[in-house]
Amino acid sequence: MCGIVGFTGSQKAAPLLLDGLKKLEYRGYDSAGIATLGEDGIHMEKAAGKIKNLDGKIQGGETLPGLSGVGHTRWATHGAPTDVNAHPHLSNDGKFALVHNGIVENYVALREELMAKGFQFKSETDTEVVVNLLELYYDGDMKDAVLKTVARLEGAYALGVLCREERGRVITARQAAPIILGVGKGENYFASDVTALVAHTKDVIYLDDGEIADLTPDGITIYDTSGKVLEKTVERVTWDVAAAEKGGYEHFMLKEIMEQPAALRSTIEPRIQNGEIVLDQFSLTDADLKKINKIMITACGSAFYAGSVGKYVIEELCRIPVEADLASELRYRNPLVDEHTLLVVVSQSGETADTIAAMKECKARGARVLAIVNVVGSTIARLADDVIYTWAGPEIAVATTKGYTTQVAVMDMLAVYMARRLGRLEDAVYHQMVEELLRLPELVQRSIEINPALQSLAEKYHSHNDIFFIGRNLDYAACLEGSLKLKEISYLHSEAYAAGELKHGTIALIERDRPVIALACCEVLLDKMLSNIQEVKARGAEVLAVVLEGEEKIVHEADDVILIPKTHPLLNSVAEVVPLQLFAYYMAKSNGCDIDKPKNLAKSVTVE
Ligand code: AGP
Repeated sequence: MCGIVGFTGSQKAAPLLLDGLKKLEYRGYDSAGIATLGEDGIHMEKAAGKIKNLDGKIQGGETLPGLSGVGHTRWATHGAPTDVNAHPHLSNDGKFALVHNGIVENYVALREELMAKGFQFKSETDTEVVVNLLELYYDGDMKDAVLKTVARLEGAYALGVLCREERGRVITARQAAPIILGVGKGENYFASDVTALVAHTKDVIYLDDGEIADLTPDGITIYDTSGKVLEKTVERVTWDVAAAEKGGYEHFMLKEIMEQPAALRSTIEPRIQNGEIVLDQFSLTDADLKKINKIMITACGSAFYAGSVGKYVIEELCRIPVEADLASELRYRNPLVDEHTLLVVVSQSGETADTIAAMKECKARGARVLAIVNVVGSTIARLADDVIYTWAGPEIAVATTKGYTTQVAVMDMLAVYMARRLGRLEDAVYHQMVEELLRLPELVQRSIEINPALQSLAEKYHSHNDIFFIGRNLDYAACLEGSLKLKEISYLHSEAYAAGELKHGTIALIERDRPVIALACCEVLLDKMLSNIQEVKARGAEVLAVVLEGEEKIVHEADDVILIPKTHPLLNSVAEVVPLQLFAYYMAKSNGCDIDKPKNLAKSVTVE
């Protein structure tokens, strides 16, 4: 996903912008560029590939003069990742430089209109129509030119605008793509997310859709699309730069796997007071809750798999029908949703386009929306009726780990909390589950410590392709996440199958030495899983079983074993996934993959 940064103040802008872009690298990109305003006009440099290519061209920012500027990391949507298509883009008359995150859906019509007016285009991007609209509408007031320009745009945009005639000013505008303002002393910033700002200021303002911000070194003025000045709250970021650094680990992903006990403690403990789950952020009254006749869970990728866990647990405890649906499917299937539907939206970034669209679709049909989000102030957090934050801290690796397990933990807490309020959980069971929820951090730590052979296991399997993950019930949901982790960072093909489905066709693919990872932590279905393991072994598969500590039956049947510490049967999913994360990590490491920034992937997919 693209990232944008902007600065104006009394320091040289280019080095600060370059540093901001480096903090946004984790979002995924394939080119980068910076434009600054010097005494003699706009200076610009851009480069395809990694930021080090840009860094080399501008010598750390030294070759670009000026105290204000904009920067961009591009994740190609329209046009290949080339120097020409990289942002910033200049208007024909050279007065404006522009960076853009998002997609202008009506750019073809706008491009034709501008070409009819004599404008010329150098790149294949949709962005170039925006910078030339700025030229078209500029009559001496930069803010008015931006207002007139954004009024013509359809689709998603986060813009950063620099104007040759307006020294010391940068303007940013947002519609369905995040922008956060950094409030400094004698300097001001904007960026696509807080990680690019927190080294300079912890005072931030979250811009909302349809707003533009006019920044000078002395202050920030925010307008709505009609040009009316808005008052916005300055909020304080609670974490610091170190949280967004590697802390001595080789990869962010490994750091974030190891941070999971702490992330779970931060997420769970503040919400359990004197043995009771307290979800202040959940404003449904008992009466409201009793009127809920369906719960929909929607998300994308790993967040959807966390939602799949939630489906099993919430339905089992609350006895309310629960549907888990991919957001990219839900948004287009004319869903049966009304005021008696509780929609649970799950997202680490809070900016995933399909998830936002599905959420808006269901909200428009009357659903009550509860968001489970990791990024404070993100679009999903701001659109929801209620938000339960996963206090996992910034997650930098593209492959989510602590984001996922804290989402599952919140789902588990929510299920127990709602069941209690619905009177569907006996006190003794409730208190036992609350105790087990509080133990999740130590269980995760133990699931790491009792599997010291994970790296050698991964090395044993690392050259295999077409690895099967099989499981039933909650184990099947864990299979989905385990398989995605492996695919997205090691590029090895694998698939997750409901174990009971194997005999309906897929078992035809089982042959000698085919690796099958069998998740068998669902005690009531253990005998069924034993049969499935025997079925695949009879056809030559090599079985790596994931079993609960002390479960001997399966161990004898498997070629290799991963042990999971025991807890309440409905709460296994958190500890169970951690060895699968490490297995995928070591497989990717054995294959020399770019673990934190896998090819073709972005940390948050803000485009469709
Ligand atoms: C998971 O490792 C991937 N990064 C991806 O599937 C991700 O979970 C998905 O894009 C949803 O992102 P979100 O949680 O930020 O909405």
